[in-house]
Amino acid sequence: MIGTGFAANIHGEAYERVPGYDIQVVAVASKLQDQAREFCKRFHIDPTNIYDDAGKMIEEVDADVIDLVVPTFLHAPFAIKAAEAGKNVICEKPLTGFFGDPDIPVDQRENVGKTDKRIMLESCLKTCKAVDDAIAKAGITFCYAENWCYARPIWKAKQLVEAAGGKILEIRCGESHSGSHSSFAAEWKYTGGGALIRMGAHPISAAIHLKLWEGMIRDGKPIHPASVVATTARCREFLDDLPEEQDHIVSRPVDVEDWSSTIITFEDGTNAVCIASDVTLGGIENWLNVYASNCRIEGKISNNNSVMAYAPTTKQFADAYTIEKTETKCGWSTAQPDEDWMTGYPHEMEDFMGAILDGRKPVSDLELGIWSTKVFYSAYLSAEQGTRVKVPTGYTLD
Ligand SMILES: NC(=O)c1ccc[n+]([C@@H]2O[C@H](COP(=O)([O-])OP(=O)(O)OC[C@H]3O[C@@H](n4cnc5c(N)ncnc54)[C@H](O)[C@@H]3O)[C@@H](O)[C@H]2O)c1
Repeated sequence: MIGTGFAANIHGEAYERVPGYDIQVVAVASKLQDQAREFCKRFHIDPTNIYDDAGKMIEEVDADVIDLVVPTFLHAPFAIKAAEAGKNVICEKPLTGFFGDPDIPVDQRENVGKTDKRIMLESCLKTCKAVDDAIAKAGITFCYAENWCYARPIWKAKQLVEAAGGKILEIRCGESHSGSHSSFAAEWKYTGGGALIRMGAHPISAAIHLKLWEGMIRDGKPIHPASVVATTARCREFLDDLPEEQDHIVSRPVDVEDWSSTIITFEDGTNAVCIASDVTLGGIENWLNVYASNCRIEGKISNNNSVMAYAPTTKQFADAYTIEKTETKCGWSTAQPDEDWMTGYPHEMEDFMGAILDGRKPVSDLELGIWSTKVFYSAYLSAEQGTRVKVPTGYTLD
């Protein structure tokens, strides 16, 4: 594993829950050595196999898979390195992005978010091509860790849409909360954007996945994204004037947006409306609704009422977990009985392990990662220009 932070812990827990496979994490690489030692202790990994240099680990380690749970600007270079070493890859979302001038050390890059979005889109297309070429040349399995493709409500929606046999006319979906825990999230040079790509990656990729899948099951060919219209906002700028007690938003974006709305129009003329927000109170809100020609499905991955928990003050649940990123546990909480299961992490890892062993593509694959990247940056270009943008079909601007 490369990375031992938040997402690495999610992956570590998911590995322990995959039935039928003996999965061992044999080595980790991290820039935070204390965190890495803690991680090894938690998941029973030999601490002598902690690397500071991820590149060295990729070359030396006797492993079938390299799992990338690092900030987004490192995904593509490590994925290519792992492929060149003949190792299968699991890569967290988003696949890649634009992070500024690669010839300048990342911590010294400034105002990356102000770069012309057409330049960003063109650069991302080149990176996608480089990853695609490296994976194809190596003949390895690439697993795109978009867990929403496996989230239980979306899995169930697919079953119901397939049974009904109708056409998906519209998807409405979103991910919102009151700001990321990660300092990387504030700066474009690390994440490749703000709320739109960091959180919107989930609903946007899930919507793309559903339409690719719908086309395959009905007509044997995927329905691709065709164009996008998007708006982004920086709400923090007008929050700073508020008195402290009126501002409960934790996000402090530097050069990224903290709110976005993206409308994707697909080749068949149908649409997906995808919201992403770093300025929404009330705990994480993950949802996806499908409006089809002969059925309608509402999926609540979080903020659902399967367990409603009440406490008269903040004391009773002070040490208990209810739901990710809630501001208070006083009053009613929508407590998730098993957030990881609902969000699809164990099912994602089960599919990845099967795909790697069988040499097949996983449900969430490189194709989804590439289409998603094209949509994210077409959306940024649309928001900058105030116009509809055609999603590139290949690796150049059409
Ligand atoms: N699927 C999900 O639900 C989900 C949730 C959170 C994050 N993510 C994704 O996971 C990725 C990591 O996010 P996070 O929240 O875990 O970040 P984090 O800040 O918690 O952890 C980042 C880790 O990367 C390591 N790292 C940084 N540079 C490194 C380098 N050069 N070599 C080796 N290790 C290095 C750090 O030491 C740290 O352990 C991001 O791409 C993010 O988009 C996905």
